[in-house]
Amino acid sequence: MSNPSPRQDPAGGVPQAREIAVAIQLPAQAAGRTRDREAAGVAAGRYYFRFGLFHRLLHGGVVLSFLGLVATGMPLKFSHTAWAARVSRYLGGFEAAGYFHRVFALLLCLAFAIHVAEVAYQLFARKDARVLWGPTSMVPQPRDILEMYRHFRWFLGLGPRPPFDRFTYWEKFDYWAVFWGMAIIGGSGFVLWFPTLFARFLPGWLFNVAFVIHSEEALLAALFIFSVHFFNSHFRPEKFPADLVIFTGRVSEAELRHERPAEYERLQAEGLLEALRAEAPPLWMRNFSRLIASTALGIGLLLMALIVVALVR
Ligand code: HEM
Repeated sequence: MSNPSPRQDPAGGVPQAREIAVAIQLPAQAAGRTRDREAAGVAAGRYYFRFGLFHRLLHGGVVLSFLGLVATGMPLKFSHTAWAARVSRYLGGFEAAGYFHRVFALLLCLAFAIHVAEVAYQLFARKDARVLWGPTSMVPQPRDILEMYRHFRWFLGLGPRPPFDRFTYWEKFDYWAVFWGMAIIGGSGFVLWFPTLFARFLPGWLFNVAFVIHSEEALLAALFIFSVHFFNSHFRPEKFPADLVIFTGRVSEAELRHERPAEYERLQAEGLLEALRAEAPPLWMRNFSRLIASTALGIGLLLMALIVVALVR
């Protein structure tokens, strides 16, 4: 079957002049659209669960620990700046900042270990290979390369928006960046934390390397999360000022069909859609989610601004 004409495809056609205009509108207008869509979704009442409580709490643990690690690590890296001296004074001094840094590091390692244990449980205890391959897996697959190519064509107005399934290629990229970061930043962080232990089998020069790697990779990770991840997930015009799905766990039917049509159709074909039906998130939950989202996003943007100030001075 040939592809539908991009201009006839209501869910994912070539960006029309109106959509392009929306993409460059002021953020306030985009925020208004998000609120309108949210109100329409709540009124229509059809919602589906995307994330369960366990994954939402785990993501919350990663958010808290990552913000804490950046807030306590960057004052050490940029200790020559006025803001770093001030932040560390609030924390009780540079030594105390290093102490809090280690506490947040343990929290991040705990969240990471819980996730790895969950994947191992799915794979080995439940013998469920879908974590390794298929539409619900986080493992990059040929389909992701094709979708990335099609997505870039869509950006240029040369084709329809690809029908994404549960996870898009950029969500997988963000996910694996955390694995990479845990290995590089976490590994070097533990070398810095326990030098006498590691000195038993590592040469002395490696400690300098570990220090540079930890410091620079942490900088890259912070800037990546606070710009690329924040923009892709929250600040793009369709979502601005925040996508609440990771807090409420639910998406409206309209959103699911528009953003992940392949997932919607697959769940329908497999007869799994009804089991995911949810109530619309109540007002208190949406307001609480907004509070958490704006606090976390605000802290991230502030930290990024402080880092940029330190880098350009
Ligand atoms: C999971 C693992 C981590 C561990 C075990 C760890 C451990 C450490 C330790 C022991 C130090 C030295 C602190 C001191 O001098 O008192 C340090 C410094 C630092 N950490 Fe981490 N850390 C981890 C993750 C992170 C993350 C995720 C970031 C940011 C994204 C980060 C950013 C920094 C920065 C910027 C410094 C200062 C480096 C410098 O002085 O140039 N760390 N870390």
